[in-house]
Amino acid sequence: MRGVWLLALSVMTLAAQPGFVANYDEAKVGNHPLPDPLKFEDGAPVKSAKEWTERRRPEILRLFEEHVYGKTPAAAKIEFEVTKRDPKALNGKATRQELTIWPAGRRGPSMQMLLYVPNQVSGKVPAFVSLSFTGNHSVDPDPAITISTRWMRQGPGIVQNRATEATRGTAASRWPVDLIVSKGYALATVYYGDLFPDHKDGKAESILPHLPDSNWNAIGAWAYGMSRMLDYLEKDSRIDTKRVAVVGHSRLGKAALWAGAQDERFAMVVANDSGEGGAAISRRNYGETVEVLNTAFPHWFTQNYARYNKAVEQMPVDQHELLALVAPRLLYITSATEDQWADPKGEFLSCVAASPVYKLLLGKDGFAGQDPSLVEQPVLRSRIGYHLRAGKHDITRYDWEQFVAFADLHLKPAAVK
Ligand code: GCU
Repeated sequence: MRGVWLLALSVMTLAAQPGFVANYDEAKVGNHPLPDPLKFEDGAPVKSAKEWTERRRPEILRLFEEHVYGKTPAAAKIEFEVTKRDPKALNGKATRQELTIWPAGRRGPSMQMLLYVPNQVSGKVPAFVSLSFTGNHSVDPDPAITISTRWMRQGPGIVQNRATEATRGTAASRWPVDLIVSKGYALATVYYGDLFPDHKDGKAESILPHLPDSNWNAIGAWAYGMSRMLDYLEKDSRIDTKRVAVVGHSRLGKAALWAGAQDERFAMVVANDSGEGGAAISRRNYGETVEVLNTAFPHWFTQNYARYNKAVEQMPVDQHELLALVAPRLLYITSATEDQWADPKGEFLSCVAASPVYKLLLGKDGFAGQDPSLVEQPVLRSRIGYHLRAGKHDITRYDWEQFVAFADLHLKPAAVK
């Protein structure tokens, strides 16, 4: 059933682009040189880690603010309330809580956070922070989880853009909570529509009117929300906030990258099938294009981004530089074989092109991947990890198994008793 809806979504996307035919021919991707993350805007080389950190990194960040995602205003101080608590969730394996958090101050909209913290651990635990497409109640069928009352895109069990009882647990395949908790990680999740309802007029009901206006948009708001989730985790003594990973799938993968690029408190950043405007190189004409993005989803990016609809080679940045903003922290990028719309090869090449920044900062390459065509042979050992999963555009248990394995290797969670 979900497949039918995903198909409907892509048909809708294409319908918004009369006459658009995506290119899937490597011979026609175009051969535009990429901007060099290790050269300043004026062409001078970046010679040291210090120069990168103090001058080039802020320069690239500003370019992404101005030309792609918009500038995130200074964060409001969050307020929160715990609304539900079950110390014996998941057969006693975890404590489950629900919290109301005001990410843009008390007078703004609230977001509802679902939090699982494993019970059988000693010491503080690392955590995954991630937004959902369909609300907390879709993550797990547990009838105690509060159903979202916010606007939701149509889908199975959604009636007049509102969730119903029928939508409990419908996204459980995307959220292997058992796996995450049994490996000693907490999971914090919020419905993305609490921050910005995902339609072209969503701004009015979003957090934007409650914060200083700065030409930002939905992706900026989703990224902002993930940082506010981390603000809460910093107040929770069970969580090791030096070991928090931000994870996102698809448009929320774009948002997770933008969150991780801006907020250096995230120790690890995961972008699953994030595609155009996410991990994929924009200058490659393959699958989705910047023009399609701006036309089908005018509420996602800053207005300036549309300047490049027909001139992508003139963008002062490309997406490998977004990945480079995560350096030297952990980064994990995924693609799926049947998700050609997201340009798997372009996502792999982005990792390759971000790698020199890791080399400058750490003295060794950031990315050990050699071959973009290898299927389900995850690259786990380097600071940039990657896999190409067999199958469709989705986030699956297989994907999460790799995120956990990557985090196990590099983030070293507290031992599970
Ligand atoms: C569409 C869109 C993509 C996006 C995806 C998703 O396919 O074109 O850019 O990543 O939706 O978020 O599911």
